[in-house]
Amino acid sequence: MCRLYKLIQPLLFRLDAEASHRLAFGALRALNYLPGFSRCLRGARAPGLPVEVMGIKFPNPVGLAAGLDKNAEYAPLLAAFGFGFLELGTVTPRPQPGNPKPRLFRLPAAHAIVNRMGFNNVGVALFLNNVYQWECPCPIGINIGKNKDTPLENAVDDYLAALRAVYPHASYVTVNISSPNTPGLREMQSQENLDELLRAIKADQTTLTRIHGRYVPLAVKIAPDLDDVQIAAIAALAQAHKIDAVIATNTTVARPGLEQAPLAKEAGGLSGRPLKALSTAVIRKLYAHLQGKIPIIGVGGIETAEDAWEKLVAGAELVQIYSALVYEGPGVVGKIVHGLAQKTAMWGAATLTEAVAKARLNSPNSANGQD
Ligand SMILES: Cc1cc2nc3c(=O)[nH]c(=O)nc-3n(C[C@H](O)[C@H](O)[C@H](O)COP(=O)(O)O)c2cc1C
Repeated sequence: MCRLYKLIQPLLFRLDAEASHRLAFGALRALNYLPGFSRCLRGARAPGLPVEVMGIKFPNPVGLAAGLDKNAEYAPLLAAFGFGFLELGTVTPRPQPGNPKPRLFRLPAAHAIVNRMGFNNVGVALFLNNVYQWECPCPIGINIGKNKDTPLENAVDDYLAALRAVYPHASYVTVNISSPNTPGLREMQSQENLDELLRAIKADQTTLTRIHGRYVPLAVKIAPDLDDVQIAAIAALAQAHKIDAVIATNTTVARPGLEQAPLAKEAGGLSGRPLKALSTAVIRKLYAHLQGKIPIIGVGGIETAEDAWEKLVAGAELVQIYSALVYEGPGVVGKIVHGLAQKTAMWGAATLTEAVAKARLNSPNSANGQD
């Protein structure tokens, strides 16, 4: 599949980035109805590499990051890529068009993407209508956000409305407070705003657990552009409010090493290879505070099993990818899972979790917070 993708990639890259995304997924969805096609998508069958995080059993630790399937349209197809879980959304309570186009830019030489999509999505009602259309073989995270036109002082109401709607359909729910493309959103990461938000969503989680007879874990997704004091404050609040996971990180407003790339000047969040070191550093610092009491989901610039391993050893328990799918195609998922299975064997461990624990003990600067 990787080879086929590499063949058609130059064609796709000649189109506008957003148009080629729609075309590729439309075609793949149609082809996925062909018998045997999903096996071909997955390429060499990825081995089982089960991990248990937030009380959820994942068939493997490699998930799809939020933003690729904002409207829950492609879950069975994406699951066929071999992902261990999918994070859908960001979905907001009401539909919204997002920012004017163009709003998605590829930087192929850097294996990077700049986007300022702005939470374009069909709104939570139609999103759930889509969810009713399919069954997914792997856990599903649903990532929720606030509408652009909701003032910051009412943001909590948006998160609660979305949480109540998606709760019965999600394996876990992610509270997105870190997209750089919704004005003011990242202010939700400030101590005062975050304290209020986490208090409110945890209270709702308790009520919703009673109503639905099921505890759905809550994750918070943070930015890579936080200083040490902010990271410490978020870690403290996550523990105080008993948040179930922290996802690190979203895209960055920085442009590390991209001084020569004209498209890097476009406003928006940067993802892909240039984000990798920044997001790993945040994971490492976060882990130093959390010490495994709250799991971390690592995301940012993962393209290979080695990159995923680096995030795990730095403190993550699960990983997610987005930009690598654009540059490497669907086969990258199986390659990463395979590579992690090899690492597990290399460390003489029965499980990936055991292998990572051994590697952390051996690594002087990975899981103890020193860079
Ligand atoms: C086009 C695009 C849209 C995205 N939309 C969202 C989103 O709606 N919600 C969100 O939490 N993250 C969103 N992200 C961020 C990704 O989930 C991920 O955190 C980031 O891209 C870093 O991972 P990567 O380097 O593997 O791409 C988006 C990323 C891209 C490239």
